[in-house]
Amino acid sequence: MFDSGFGGLTVARAFIDLLPAEDLVYIGDTGRYPYGSRPLAEVRKFAEELARSLVDDHGAKAIVVACNTAAAAGLDDLRASLPVPVLDVIEPGVAALVRTTVTGRVGVIGTVGTVSSGAYRTAVSCTGVPVQLTSAACPGFVEFVERGQTDGDEVTVLAERLLAPVRQAGVDSLLLGCTHYPFLARTIADVMGHDVTLVSSADETAFAAQRLLGERDLLRTPDGRRGEHRFLSSGDLDAFRRLGARLLGPELDHTEPWNQESDIR
Ligand code: DGL
Repeated sequence: MFDSGFGGLTVARAFIDLLPAEDLVYIGDTGRYPYGSRPLAEVRKFAEELARSLVDDHGAKAIVVACNTAAAAGLDDLRASLPVPVLDVIEPGVAALVRTTVTGRVGVIGTVGTVSSGAYRTAVSCTGVPVQLTSAACPGFVEFVERGQTDGDEVTVLAERLLAPVRQAGVDSLLLGCTHYPFLARTIADVMGHDVTLVSSADETAFAAQRLLGERDLLRTPDGRRGEHRFLSSGDLDAFRRLGARLLGPELDHTEPWNQESDIR
């Protein structure tokens, strides 16, 4: 599993809880985050490097792209070039969103890269469910999460400004289309109003991973054994462990370097 930084830990948490017997290697590319403001071609290249390393250096049997921006940049090449199945967070998140709405007015928020790619619009129309989608990019949210600042006046003021389009559209369900955003859920809920349901792709993605592994006969039989969890970062290891443990929990007690120069081939 990989993400540009800490956000994918929301997916890792859900995955560990649902599939405790599975081994997990997580790479947070904090040395190169944020992805959200980068050209999509560059993000695609990073995704390729990270996925390759997970397969070649860690023997991954499946890849979870726990980053909306990387998924929105396009996974077709990745899927074609890797010998293992690749799962992303967009499809599971959209499935949950269209299931949740009652009024049919739905919203999605994400990074500039994700929203401008149109990937959510495409994924929603692929479901065939007739909903009215409003999207809003939220530049700045990721930086707050990566600094560990998940509430307070500054975040609230920014959220009020950035969430205005989805509030005005009167959505009844809002998909957090960036894996960092669940860490800001309280602020987002306060600003949106408590009658709006926030949908996070983390749990849905864990269920999708369980289905995918099951279909491919790759699920580890639960035999009471706890899976091994490894957390790698391309940035500051101490910061990753400190903040990561706050966000993910006690499993993140040790961080290893992911060195792009030696790992990329
Ligand atoms: N967490 C990522 C996502 O789901 C990207 C954050 C970033 O690096 O900009 O989009």
